[in-house]
Amino acid sequence: MCWLRTVVISFIVGTVVGGRDFPPDFKFGAATAAYQVEGAWNVSDKSPSIWDSYIRRYPERIIDGSSGDVACDSYNQWRKDVEIASNLGLHFYRFSIAWTRLMPSGFPNTVSEDGKKFYNDLIDALLEKGIEPVVTLYHWDLPQSLQDLGGWTNPLVSDWFADYARIAFSLFGDRVKTWITLNEPIIFCEIVYNTAMHAPGILSAGVGNYLCNKHAMLAHAKAWRIYDEEFRPKYNGKVSLSNQILWLEPENENDVEITETSRQLMVGMFSHPIFSKEGGWPPVIEKIIAEKSKKEGLSKSRLPPFTQEEIDFVKGTYDFFALNYYTSRTVKKAKEGDRIGPWPMNGASDLDIHLTVRPEWKHAATSWFYIYPEGLRRQLAWLKEHYGDIEILITENGYASYDISEDDPDRVQYYKEHLEQVLLAIEDGVKVSGYTAWTMIDNFEWSDGYRSKFGLYKIDFEDPLRKRSPRASAHYYSSVVKSHSLDVDNKFTDEL
Ligand SMILES: *[C@@H]1O[C@H](CO)[C@@H](O)[C@H](O)[C@H]1NC(C)=O
Repeated sequence: MCWLRTVVISFIVGTVVGGRDFPPDFKFGAATAAYQVEGAWNVSDKSPSIWDSYIRRYPERIIDGSSGDVACDSYNQWRKDVEIASNLGLHFYRFSIAWTRLMPSGFPNTVSEDGKKFYNDLIDALLEKGIEPVVTLYHWDLPQSLQDLGGWTNPLVSDWFADYARIAFSLFGDRVKTWITLNEPIIFCEIVYNTAMHAPGILSAGVGNYLCNKHAMLAHAKAWRIYDEEFRPKYNGKVSLSNQILWLEPENENDVEITETSRQLMVGMFSHPIFSKEGGWPPVIEKIIAEKSKKEGLSKSRLPPFTQEEIDFVKGTYDFFALNYYTSRTVKKAKEGDRIGPWPMNGASDLDIHLTVRPEWKHAATSWFYIYPEGLRRQLAWLKEHYGDIEILITENGYASYDISEDDPDRVQYYKEHLEQVLLAIEDGVKVSGYTAWTMIDNFEWSDGYRSKFGLYKIDFEDPLRKRSPRASAHYYSSVVKSHSLDVDNKFTDEL
């Protein structure tokens, strides 16, 4: 095949230095998420999630007017996904549970037999192949019935989520040892309410996002504490939440201080309450939003405070840090009267900043994606500096293209350059314990529909059976995984 040559060449280029092995206990995985792959949105007793409703209500907000109704049909084709994970040599496979498939009413009074069976079968098949299941509880698909009650802006959502988490831990915790409670609150709170370009499509900039942030922190903490008290003694697993972080750099030397403040908005909002010694919101951010709110004539800050009891409850609710990294931004101060774009895409009006990129950062497919591999190493160092010498699992990293072919040298390059930065971070002394490729198979990429592709495997979305075929990047990644090293030029095997 024509792409084989490209693979071999890209393996040889840049593989001169030796000693590029990963630590022996370092683990490699790949990830997917329920709404993006499962399809089967209305089978059995499954109820609609906010994404099922959103794509029906606002089809124009999906770039190609598509939906996740069928997606990769993984609800039916999951055996193929397990086969792929096994062929790639993955140590773990990260997938998410659809809350509406497991608990159709959203509450623990209904546990679906079919939903239970689907996830049991998947978990068992992975374990049979020696692949560890890493399970995300919430990857953005809230039950619509709970959205009708206010969703993430209703304080009760943390109890609803906690009940769901307990059911999942009790059903699957004997076999699932690594849990992610929430995937990327920065997306399902900040992007959602600042742009309305994701489900549930509600615009409430500067208000809804902060309510959501607080309730997400409490939801995570409740789930962690339930695991800690009721399940850890018998199952001895680990629980954290995945944070997507855009590494931020100052546009120039005048922007150094505002950049550090911006990192507290980017990282601190979802990490300071959990991972810092003091807990609570990052003080600098809490102060700025309180002052802004006062100036706006509000009687209370738009950022709802934590009580001391809540601070203590949330603090320390982690077993490791889970990082999703794709891209970076530069920060510069806005001028008086500037129009500022929505956080965290183009700016942050609460900090009076613009976000931009350096001209030399190459643009990948989809609007937000610029490539800066060094950002990953720098972000890892920042996390260690601020939250201590904790284990960090990279739960997502990968490359978007519009190219559907199997020949994807740019994706191979992206993986290679980012894995190099992971090795450098490990040399720096950061405890990176594993790496997860996003994503294993092309899937429904939210508002980008099926246009942008992240897959190691291509999916033929015209084919009713959704034929899966390995890209060059699948061969590359599998060689890295199997040789446990970036020195893969002469270890290439064509066995996918
Ligand atoms: C499920 O949704 C599909 C559209 O994706 C529709 O054709 C089918 O009739 C629905 N099935 C049920 C049982 O409602």
